[in-house]
Parts: sequence; structure tokens; C-alpha cells
Amino acid sequence: MIEKLADIKSKALDELSSLADFNELEAWRVRYLGKKSELTQILRGVASIPPEQRKAVGASANELRATLEDLYRENKDALKERAFQDVETTAKGYKDVSLPGRPIPLGRLHPITQTVNEICSIFVALGFQVVEGPEVEWDYYNFEALNIPPDHPARDMWDTLWIDTGSGQRPMLLRTHTSPMQIRVMEQTQPPVRVVVPGKVYRYEATDATHESMFYQLEGLAVDEYITFADLKGTLYEFAKRLFGEERRVRFRCDYFPFVEPGVEMAIDCFICGGQGCRLCSGTGWIEILGAGMVHPDVLRRVNYDPEVYTGFAFGLGLERIHMLRYGIEDIRLFYSNDLRFLRQF
Ligand code: DAH
Repeated sequence: MIEKLADIKSKALDELSSLADFNELEAWRVRYLGKKSELTQILRGVASIPPEQRKAVGASANELRATLEDLYRENKDALKERAFQDVETTAKGYKDVSLPGRPIPLGRLHPITQTVNEICSIFVALGFQVVEGPEVEWDYYNFEALNIPPDHPARDMWDTLWIDTGSGQRPMLLRTHTSPMQIRVMEQTQPPVRVVVPGKVYRYEATDATHESMFYQLEGLAVDEYITFADLKGTLYEFAKRLFGEERRVRFRCDYFPFVEPGVEMAIDCFICGGQGCRLCSGTGWIEILGAGMVHPDVLRRVNYDPEVYTGFAFGLGLERIHMLRYGIEDIRLFYSNDLRFLRQF
């Protein structure tokens, strides 16, 4: 009987080592520990064994049952563990469809792009077209055609990044403002002209909280018969109200830009303090937002528009400055330092 038990044990261990899955392990348990198994039969028959063998057989049989039960449990745990790993590493035949989906990260428009779009749509509603132009520009369009000849002191208004074109070649640069597009548009079309031109401009400049070497401007130009300074004021006043609020007031003061006559700067009353004077408006109650003027007759002549027939107004504004004013941003460099914590706020 003892031999028989040893036999059962070695067979059981043998088979156990080659089991592949839960079903096989379960069949093994039924075979060696089930009600009809040899071991169970032996245990049941212990009472009828001759007393001198009974104790030894009983002890061995009980020990074997305990061993096999332990092995069954261990193997079951191991198989469970392996099944979990399979799910994690190979997703073998099992997907948890109740898990939340993985969100697809969505991008967004850069705050300056948003401002460009918003301002352009205001001017589109006022009858302007949107056009764009080259950032690498001839000296002629950036300066000369705008009444700024070589060596004229007005060039000092724009710290310029020059392109090395070699000696004897036409001078080229990174445009310092969007105004050269006034010339390009007028060269290619006949009046009436109503355009706005958003785009990047470049300055040879040390950067600080209010200066960048690359920033955005928006140029505007309207040329037609009978355009007067009243049209300039009316259009820009309407723009200021649509962007900064219906209750805005505007102020025009004389300024100098070589390509307009007369030239002005436009300010709005401070929308934080309402004109009392605060930090945003440096205590003045007014915030300057753009330069403008009536297109200079010499500029019109240069593109073969007859200044006796046609007149026009032009304006230019810095878009970062507008965005900074509206959102209370104190450093222009934030726009171009790729810090998502800043950019995601807009
Ligand atoms: N181009 C000027 C600048 O960059 C801004 C400007 C002033 C544009 C007056 C205009 C204008 O069209 O009429 O400083």
C-alpha cells in the first residue's frame, strides 16, 4: 500500500510538470484528489486495513493528500499570475472595453495667430481684403519707395537686418515693417484699394520685455477717389471699438512717418482705469496702439497713381502689443519661448 502511494505521488508530480493551462490543472486535481481518485479510495479504506499497517498507511496517505493539495494551489496561483502578465504584455485575446479611451492631444492656434485672425475679420467686415507678402524684401520696397532714400536719417527709425547680397547687387533685407506691401499692392492693382496685410517683421534689436527681433505687424491701406482724413478716423475708430469695446474713445496726435502726410498716432482711452491713469497707461489715461496717415503724394506717384485723382490712408500696428494690452501680458518674449504653460492659456 505504501508503494502504491509512492507510485501515485511520482505519477502526479510527473504530470504536473507538463500542465499547460487551468483546464489541465483542474483535470489533474480531479484525477489525483477527486472523489473517485485512487488516493481518496485509499483514505476511505484506511479503516479496513489491518491494524499493524493502518497507522503508517493513514499517515502516508494524508501526507500525500496535503502535498498534492499544496501543489495544486501553488500551480493555480502561478497560472493566474501568468495570465495577468499575458494580458498586460501581449493583450492576448483580452481587451478591457470598459476602460476610458486615450485622449488624442489637440493642438491650438498660437495666441498671435488668433489675434491676427480676429483683427483681420474686423477689417474684412469693413470691406478690406487680406493679403500677405515676402519677409525677405528689397531695400526699394522697404525704404526707397516709401520716401526713405539711402542715407536719410529716417532710416534710423528701423534697426535693420541686412542680407549679404554681395557688392554691386541690389540691397536686400528682412522687412522691418509691413509697409512695403503698400507699394507691392498698388503696383499690381488699380484703385479702389482696401487691403490689410498681417505678417512677420524683423529688427536688429536687443530683446527685452517690450522688444523682440521678430514680431508681427498688420498694415492697412485704402486708396480711392475722395478718401479723406475723416475716413481714416472713422475706420480706425470703428476698429478700436470692435476690438477694445464699444465705449472706447480715441485720440489722434501728430506723428512723423516718411510715407504719410499728415502722419498720426492713434491712442485709445485706457480700458483699465477709464482714463484716470494707472500702471497699464503709465498714468496718462491713454494707450498708443497704432501709427497712420494720409498716403504721401510722392508714394502714389511712384506707383503711377495720380495724386490729383486718388487719395488714401494707411496704418500699421504691432500685434503682440495689442495682445499684451488685452490680456495684461508684461513680456513680449513669452510669445516665442515655446512655453506651453503660457501658450495653453489662450
Ligand atoms: N510702418 C510703421 C512702423 O513700422 C508703422 C506705420 C505708421 C504704418 C504709419 C503706416 C503708417 O502705414 O501710415 O513703425
